[in-house]
Amino acid sequence: MTRAASSDQNIAGLHIPVLGVEAVQALEPRDGGVYIDATFGRGGYTQLLLQTANCRVIAYDQDPDAIAAGEKLVAQYPGRLTLRHSPFSRLADHDDGLVDGIAFDLGVSSPQLDTAERGFSFRLDGPLDMRMSLDGESAADLVNTASVEELTRIMRDYGEEPKARRIAQGIVAQRVTRPFVRTGELASLVASIVPKQKDGHHPATRTFQALRIAVNDELGELERGLVAAEQILKIGGRMAVVSFHSLEDRIVKNYMRARSTVATPSRHVPILDNAAKPTLRLVTRQGITASEEDLAINPRARSARLRVAEKMHDDMGQVA
Ligand SMILES: C[S@@+](CC[C@H](N)C(=O)[O-])C[C@H]1O[C@@H](n2cnc3c(N)ncnc32)[C@H](O)[C@@H]1O
Repeated sequence: MTRAASSDQNIAGLHIPVLGVEAVQALEPRDGGVYIDATFGRGGYTQLLLQTANCRVIAYDQDPDAIAAGEKLVAQYPGRLTLRHSPFSRLADHDDGLVDGIAFDLGVSSPQLDTAERGFSFRLDGPLDMRMSLDGESAADLVNTASVEELTRIMRDYGEEPKARRIAQGIVAQRVTRPFVRTGELASLVASIVPKQKDGHHPATRTFQALRIAVNDELGELERGLVAAEQILKIGGRMAVVSFHSLEDRIVKNYMRARSTVATPSRHVPILDNAAKPTLRLVTRQGITASEEDLAINPRARSARLRVAEKMHDDMGQVA
């Protein structure tokens, strides 16, 4: 589910994550337009937007390290790039007016994964952290305090881990004498419970995914982010969302479908003028998946999916 550097595309010297070119193209960037990169990361999408048209970009990331590393780009594109250290659920809280397009590239970035101190990796030993924002409850706080039931639910629902309960019991038994501090300690415990995987994945892959989703409230963020994105899109503007696992994709698919479908009128409820009109139009019905070329380089790109919708109309009655 996490983004793998090896599957990324190199376009004119830019490092673009899988499906990034398709996502940016789907926004049809135009001169004078204003676009939001909701997940700046290392700035691949932002640079592609800035190079595709003489537009402005407002880029969000909840990771202070990503924003700090992006300052170089701000200087490279004077007056065209604004960086914002904020979760994308707050896209509508700023006074930017309506925008022409919004891209989301969900998940963690390669720098986050590859930096042991950030605590996302079961391969690199580091503090058991996993907070993209470096704020709030860490993964160590969670595994050292949550009940067996809560830990089981997290690993089952967010990681689809068949041994969720056994792992949760193992965590709770171990933390009584030795609270978890390092990623390596958790990875070893999980590896002692989950057998070696036939597909070559580390036994702790699903557990780490689940904890990361819980620590960062990734699904709640996505639900709120989609609503906020629709609110600040111009009529005719598009949102493009790349997800990397089925839990995220289901949220994106259901949201776009619900907002692009006319509610079935009820015999008992009067139809209000705008209430029944869909607010979005699906630009991609089934979504776009990674190319054979991407898949050949990295089989994990298999779960990547891009969905695009265009704003048709809003709840206040503004129509394209
Ligand atoms: C997959 S990376 C994006 C890579 C980027 N498209 C690029 O080209 O370099 C995801 C980034 O989104 C950020 N992120 C994830 N969830 C977020 C949220 N709810 N709000 C703001 N940023 C978020 C992460 O911190 C990470 O830097």
